Amino acid sequence: MNMVDIIIKKRNGGKLSNEEIEWFVQAYTNGEIPDYQVSALLMAIYYQHLDDEETLTLTKAMQASGTTIDLSSIPGIKVDKHSTGGIGDKTTLIVAPLAAACGVPIAKMSGRGLGMTGGTIDKLSAIPGFETSVEPETFLENVRTHGIAVVGQSATLAKADKLMYALRDVTGTVEEPSLIASSIMSKKLASGSDAILLDVKCGSGAFMHDEEAAAELADKMVRIGKGAGKRTVAVITSMEQPLGCAVGNSCEVVEAIETLKGRGPADITELSLHLSAVMVLLGGKAATLEEARSMTETALKDGSGLVKLEELIKAQGGDPEILSDITKLPRPAKAIEVRSAKDGYVAAVDAALVGHAVQKAGAGRARKEDEIDPSAGAYLYHKTGDQVKKGDCLARLFGNDADKIRDGLNDLASAFRIEQTAPEKKPLIIDTIGLE
Ligand code: URA
Repeated sequence: MNMVDIIIKKRNGGKLSNEEIEWFVQAYTNGEIPDYQVSALLMAIYYQHLDDEETLTLTKAMQASGTTIDLSSIPGIKVDKHSTGGIGDKTTLIVAPLAAACGVPIAKMSGRGLGMTGGTIDKLSAIPGFETSVEPETFLENVRTHGIAVVGQSATLAKADKLMYALRDVTGTVEEPSLIASSIMSKKLASGSDAILLDVKCGSGAFMHDEEAAAELADKMVRIGKGAGKRTVAVITSMEQPLGCAVGNSCEVVEAIETLKGRGPADITELSLHLSAVMVLLGGKAATLEEARSMTETALKDGSGLVKLEELIKAQGGDPEILSDITKLPRPAKAIEVRSAKDGYVAAVDAALVGHAVQKAGAGRARKEDEIDPSAGAYLYHKTGDQVKKGDCLARLFGNDADKIRDGLNDLASAFRIEQTAPEKKPLIIDTIGLE
């Protein structure tokens, strides 16, 4: 096979055969095709797209290009959850224990944050002693014993995706729906769960800025999942403003604990109950979504979700005392407040700007190798729709480095738009597809 022929075929709008896709993925993974040819193909795909069959073949070829996890020794229907990334999205820390408390085995591999969006592994790493890179045998044993394990993604999972994602990042070809869908789904399929729940974010703080684009991406991923024989559901949710009030690593762990104690912000609580209910349904523990929802509500109310989080923390070497004593978590030494310049209503809290502010304050990485400050973050005292008075504290930005906090302050202040009339209320959960 010849890479130039494949590039020209796609450039001219042709359909690539399964053999052509499988060949270039394998050859690129083996180092037999140079980056410049794969870059050219990615750009051709960016303009000419991939149809459903090509997207599924690309996904499976990337899935097969690295390590795959075999969860078949764990009884029950294993359900995975993935968020396309957002600001303040700590739902995995809540949803995974809630679903596990309802009997769904959770064997989850999560990523680190990059850019303005946080990653579950960075949040868990804020817990003193918590081990996110465990041996595969221990990972499986923890799921068997405790019904839950959350670890960092192995570097060799979907190896071709790792190589191609790095290339897309520097060639302006990230934002093509079939490339995003195949990239995410190749890792989900390689992770070995039986069913997959996708939380597709839409809004200023997400990859997909409008509902139409988010629905297209969600639809593609559901079709890939089903094409690969996995029950797959996608929930489209708003990322116009951050989720909850805490954005950062240590502070998001605190908010997740508060939510599992029944004292969390309404948006995080509602989304967590919905996502965990879908997981309970996918895991075959309930016959209907209503029944599943009532089970996750019970797991929240009776504290069994919190007990599962404690079990997870203990099993992976973390200090369970953080559940009752948050001073055991990394604490910031410095903080600056943002105050409202006028009376009015909060018309918007731009998620992307809050993400940038928190990243600059030290909570995120600009490059993969950057160190993060687990104590850094922001707390939002007001969110969209709140009435505020001039001088009210809207938010605090904190961390251990005063210069970094000052750097992020302007973004945090600009995130708030105050207007004279109350904004129209928009739904957090926009749609759930693939349930049928
Ligand atoms: N996340 C991924 O894993 N891949 C993409 O292409 C985009 C987001």
